[in-house]
Amino acid sequence: MKTDLPHSFRRLEYSPPTYTLGQVALDIALDPAHTIVKSRLEVLPGPHHAADAPLILQGEELEFVSLRVNGEVHRQFELSPGFLKILALPDGGQKAFIVEIICACAPATNTSLMGLYVSNGNFFTQCEAEGFRKITYFLDRPDVMARYRVTLRAIEADYPVLLSNGNLIDTEKLPNGWHLATWEDPFPKPSYLFALVAGKLECLEETITTSSGATKLLQIWVEPADLKKTRHAMDSLIAAIHWDEKRFGLELDLERFMIVAVSDFNMGAMENKGLNIFNTKFILAQPETATDADFANIESVVAHEYFHNWTGNRVTCRDWFQLSLKEGLTVFRDQEFSADQMGSESGRAVRRIDDVRVLRQLQFPEDAGPMAHPIRPDEYEEINNFYTVTVYEKGAEVVRMYQTLLGVEGFRKGMDLYFQRHDGHAVTCDDFLAAMADANGRDLSRFKYWYSQSGTPKVHVAERYDASLQQYHLTLSQSCTPGDGQTLKNAFHIPLKMRLLTASNDQAEQLLELTQENQTWVFEGLAERPALSLNRGFSAPIQLKFAQSQDDLMHLFFADDDAFNRWESGQTLAMQLILDNHLPDSALIDAYRHILTDPDLDPAFKELALSLPAESYLYEQCVEVDPQHIHNARRAFRHAVASELRLEWAALYQQMQTPGPFSPDAVSAAKRALKNCALNMLLEADPLIWAPMAVNQYQTADNMTDRYGALAALVICGSKEAQACLKDFYTRFEGDTLVIDKWFALQASRPPVKGAQSTLEAVQQLRQHAAFKMNNPNRVRSVIHAYCLNNPASFHLADGSGYVFWAEAVLALNAVNPQIAARLARGLDRWRNFAQPFQSQMLAALQRVATSPGLSADVREVINKAIG
Ligand code: PHE
Ligand code: ZN
Repeated sequence: MKTDLPHSFRRLEYSPPTYTLGQVALDIALDPAHTIVKSRLEVLPGPHHAADAPLILQGEELEFVSLRVNGEVHRQFELSPGFLKILALPDGGQKAFIVEIICACAPATNTSLMGLYVSNGNFFTQCEAEGFRKITYFLDRPDVMARYRVTLRAIEADYPVLLSNGNLIDTEKLPNGWHLATWEDPFPKPSYLFALVAGKLECLEETITTSSGATKLLQIWVEPADLKKTRHAMDSLIAAIHWDEKRFGLELDLERFMIVAVSDFNMGAMENKGLNIFNTKFILAQPETATDADFANIESVVAHEYFHNWTGNRVTCRDWFQLSLKEGLTVFRDQEFSADQMGSESGRAVRRIDDVRVLRQLQFPEDAGPMAHPIRPDEYEEINNFYTVTVYEKGAEVVRMYQTLLGVEGFRKGMDLYFQRHDGHAVTCDDFLAAMADANGRDLSRFKYWYSQSGTPKVHVAERYDASLQQYHLTLSQSCTPGDGQTLKNAFHIPLKMRLLTASNDQAEQLLELTQENQTWVFEGLAERPALSLNRGFSAPIQLKFAQSQDDLMHLFFADDDAFNRWESGQTLAMQLILDNHLPDSALIDAYRHILTDPDLDPAFKELALSLPAESYLYEQCVEVDPQHIHNARRAFRHAVASELRLEWAALYQQMQTPGPFSPDAVSAAKRALKNCALNMLLEADPLIWAPMAVNQYQTADNMTDRYGALAALVICGSKEAQACLKDFYTRFEGDTLVIDKWFALQASRPPVKGAQSTLEAVQQLRQHAAFKMNNPNRVRSVIHAYCLNNPASFHLADGSGYVFWAEAVLALNAVNPQIAARLARGLDRWRNFAQPFQSQMLAALQRVATSPGLSADVREVINKAIG
């Protein structure tokens, strides 16, 4: 663990490497306690070489054994924490030379899950961003790309399967029950894309033919008992391969593409070249154990990692400040893929609404808080802390804006030029912008501020209708307050899709480009005052500041042909009432009724239209957040929507049943979503009447969506039937880790219920449960993160006890897994925005963590930035 003094890395301090690498040969003898790594590096002078420059390799938590240069034992070196510095190189390092290093590491005790580690008795690696240096001393930076040949040795009975990147070129039996496998990756790659896997695994395998007629082998490797849960992941992979050929002309470049699932993993998944490694959560699914949401997540994460093969691997990042170059682009690509997979326009819109909700609930707060950063950050202490919703989700919005400005075809031209120019190289966000601009002959110089300025821009709207001239005047002005003390000088280039809604329906959708602080547009020939539909499809990641009249909002909620804005107007109406502590008025209830009973509307849209803005999004609208007040206002509002529409909910609960055997398709999934939403509302309105219905659904369900949906409804409303069902659920699924994660998460996310045990007490008990494991990230997230980050009303307690729990958990995790600890540490970021007594209690908890000894660089950076 790095616990030295804080050190900041700065984007503008980039310099090209002094040395680079040609061939890399690794020979790894796998042993859980003591793995021996022999490396042979062909070192070349880099673009920035000066005579006699030492070769400085990174290395962490390694046991150094020996060093040779050009075959001779080399004694001129210095070892310091983090580095191996090799001096007195042949020819002053001006010509190629060979470095051979032997070192060792201890995978079995590696709980950080970075570098080489053991999970369930098998070996895995995680190298992004800087994990390779925990395997061997290396030039561990993404602009050093090398060709790898990897020999893995292990005891065959314990580790029958040995995998690494690329193609398998040799296998051999060795004395004493050992065996080896040699893999060669034909593509040069940075070290963060290296991977190895060894253990008792089996695979689902399929061969496919890609667009050029080549045959490719696809494999999904899992523990034998999980083999039956891999079909959906394989189907998703095949769909993603075909989609990328069709949409972007990008073909799979390897003969073999492997995915491996592991149950101990810090993130969702990792795009190692030809050997993706996945959190089991994003691979394993069967209808009995995975919800519709799980199925959709698997499809999108499998696609995301596959898409990285071009956007990330073939063209990679010059340095980690450019992370959004691959992540923003790849998220955009997976969003487009998932939208297309819905198979209908309304399905696409539903996906878009889901994506925007994530952005607003998670990224907007980040962009207004102490960890705010541009999608291309300027400075970091620990790069692991910058795998953020800003880099990923806002980064994807920025990529989407190119497509909005240039059109789908123009965007494709830009992508083609990007690959033509940069295939095989490590490049920057500026290079991507230049490809988009040059391919389309467009000046995008103002667009670059999306990369350098943090904060969510606000667009203020002023409108005026002149009846005598039949003119409509629209004035837009932009402003932006970043959270990180950046001073903003430059107006953003903001593409805003808009349409004027009129009775005669005679105005077409247009694209307005707001590029100055203030701009006015005049629209002619309007015989009546139109209703403005602006930022349609959420064409720019901004906050609209528009005091639109209730009448116009209501009109949009009934009649906007843009599904996103139709949904949005309903959200705005509800939000205003909740923030004013009002219940829904009769006009809004009528509008809800109209939506719920419209036979032509997609059930998935109905479900979204009736979902209220999240508490975390409501917080962003307040100057002094009182979490209990907001929770109660929102809950009362929800109760009113539930009870006033009880007849409609009951009718929907019947109509949305999907008789016959389970089917996972989008239409059936949408029905299940609306049905379970109805059940929740019915339990909210009349718990005594509907609890038996929920119990019945729980018991008779043939799929996890319905079984979990009923259980969650019972738990959330605090029904007395919940306990028995929870108990049944645990025994029913005891052997299935991912399902037991749901069991933990559901209890940890329960909102407060009058007269029942507090959620904090429940969470404290769950932490003592025999199945709770501090070193398994999924289990930790399902209990601790679910409670502290995802359950605001149960967490923000006036006596500060939630924060005390948080501080203890951050410190406990800090010693086990700094990345998982740092994620949790983000939980009090927004303390300055809270009312008293919450604010002081949060600060006290932050200070307690800040003054504790032994903080990892990860946790320290987050906490120091929060305190400010
Ligand atoms: N690069 C991975 C992705 O987004 C995320 C990741 C980062 C995984 C760091 C592990 C470690 O696809
Ligand atoms: Zn990614």
